[in-house]
Amino acid sequence: MRRRDFVQVSLAVAAHAALQVPATHAAAPSRRIPYGSAVRGDALVDDYDYRTVLAEHCQLVVPEGGLKWVVVRPSEDRFDFYEGDKLLAFADQNGMKMRGHTLIWHGAMPDWTSSIRGAEAAEKAMTKHIHTVVGQYKGRIPSWDVINEAIAEDPRGSDYLRPNLWLENMGKGYIETALRLAAEADPQAQLVINEYDIECVGEYYENRRNALLRVVHDLRDRGAPIHAVGFQGHLKGQYEIDKEGVSSFVAELKAMDVDVLVTELDVIDNLLPADEKERDQVIAGRVTDLLEAISDANPPTAILTWGITDRYTWVPTWFTRDDGRLNRPLPLDRDYKTKPMMDAIKRFAARA
Ligand code: G3I
Repeated sequence: MRRRDFVQVSLAVAAHAALQVPATHAAAPSRRIPYGSAVRGDALVDDYDYRTVLAEHCQLVVPEGGLKWVVVRPSEDRFDFYEGDKLLAFADQNGMKMRGHTLIWHGAMPDWTSSIRGAEAAEKAMTKHIHTVVGQYKGRIPSWDVINEAIAEDPRGSDYLRPNLWLENMGKGYIETALRLAAEADPQAQLVINEYDIECVGEYYENRRNALLRVVHDLRDRGAPIHAVGFQGHLKGQYEIDKEGVSSFVAELKAMDVDVLVTELDVIDNLLPADEKERDQVIAGRVTDLLEAISDANPPTAILTWGITDRYTWVPTWFTRDDGRLNRPLPLDRDYKTKPMMDAIKRFAARA
């Protein structure tokens, strides 16, 4: 390890004080759409170049894992804000804002939560978690993914919500309860329902958009605090974006005064051509199609990718390529070089 990096790491671990990078970051002009990335806490400490590109390109950051229950709640009584505080310190030092991900999700739950039983116990656990975590960052995290992936994989009839601890114990009202708890803890925060597989052509995607609309309409009818829908945007590169479907979906949200943002954009490329140039062009094209389709009717309040460099991405965990070539789902390659995907996002953000 170079001495400079060693010093940075040591200090960062001690006090989150040395996550600064050269002053390359200019504050975003106010009229552009802010761009941001999910961040891995370990790489943030270990990798100077990673910190540098984040500071250079991003106006927003979100922890890829650092605010999930499995990290924040090692036990029922303990809250661990080390990862959240570390990223917030980096954001503050580099003039960025941070988003919160995520309060209510079926994934990344610590084992001890499986013993939560009954409506009362579930609501008590949810209240303690949301009040403490959102309260901890009140006024400092302006946007939260309160609900993540609530729609059933294949929504049908009355079974349109995904089974999870909260649905099983509290019934469908758990979504409204969680949103109200978050609003109590930070009345100024943007409260988001975040969902995947709502972007492409086909009945599967259309059903999922319709189920999500049903949830939002219901919340609006009941006066619940829902401010935005997040398109995760884990696009499967082989599928076309449903431009019409997406536009009418976001128009319907706009009619309810619900904003949209893109929260976890990347392009899963295991079934795309081997040639890197060709692959990168398809990827940039899908991204442009999605951003255009959203903006035609309800321009996004933010665009975040789920990582900034192909060096750190969840995609190969599930979608390795049969030809052994490496995945290229993100805006910068493994050596931090800009790819057409970044150009597409920047062009788009600037013209807003
Ligand atoms: O930190 C441990 C490490 O100590 C251990 O040695 C290693 C061995 O497997 O695991 C490490 O934890 C992993 C963690 O990522 C940190 O890298 C977990 O196993 C792994 O399950 C976890 O995966 C994350 C996943 O959510 C589950 O939390 C992915 O990085 C993250 O990209 C992914 O993000 C989700 C969004 O939250 C919601 N939308 C979909 C998206 C992609 O799946």
